[in-house]
Amino acid sequence: MIKERLRRLYLRAYDRQMDRRLGVSTCEPKGWKTPVETPNSQFQDATASQPTWYRQLESIDDWLHMDACDHLVDLGCGRGRVLVWAAQQGQGRVSGVEAVSSLAKDAQANLEGLSIPNQVHCQDAADYRFSDETILFFFNPFGAFTMAAVMDNLASNLEENPRLIRIIYRWDHHHQLFQTLPWIERVENRGRSSLWRINPPRKA
Ligand SMILES: C[S@@+](CC[C@H](N)C(=O)[O-])C[C@H]1O[C@@H](n2cnc3c(N)ncnc32)[C@H](O)[C@@H]1O
Repeated sequence: MIKERLRRLYLRAYDRQMDRRLGVSTCEPKGWKTPVETPNSQFQDATASQPTWYRQLESIDDWLHMDACDHLVDLGCGRGRVLVWAAQQGQGRVSGVEAVSSLAKDAQANLEGLSIPNQVHCQDAADYRFSDETILFFFNPFGAFTMAAVMDNLASNLEENPRLIRIIYRWDHHHQLFQTLPWIERVENRGRSSLWRINPPRKA
């Protein structure tokens, strides 16, 4: 118990230090509580809003590697920490989808000044229409209903635009829903995170 408290204190202090270093504000402000209702969410199954610890982002840095043609989207991006972190690589594009408008606004502010193209969509992830994304990030953002809608939209998009996609899922409670996607396989587990790959066959 004490060990866990100390660990959290350390991780929080590290987060604040990293925010300062990156010139952003992605930590939860003191006293901030996840809204009981998320007006933009049709299924009302949002989980608590908390950012991924920077330490944990460091531990999956290789999964987050972006090439110039990569487009990363964080579904449930909060204040945009993952996007800011990935954008440090200096290539590719990043997008965030966030249902809570105050968080989306904060994310937008945090992304200002990034050296790569970026966008924040303030909307329900269930309605997000995929285009050319190649890396999807989820950190336990919502429940099975929203996740099922997201998977449905992704499956339709893959029919139109089959492509190689990496999915990073932290605290992967609803990973069974991934099985509805074509050409998907689980590549690796690391702690409470899993890495998936959608790998359509090449056209002859
Ligand atoms: C656990 S936080 C993760 C934040 C960020 N991805 C990270 O790892 O630092 C999950 C976020 O998903 C958002 N969220 C929940 N349900 C949503 C929905 N239906 N559509 C879009 N965003 C949603 C929450 O408001 C919250 O900010």
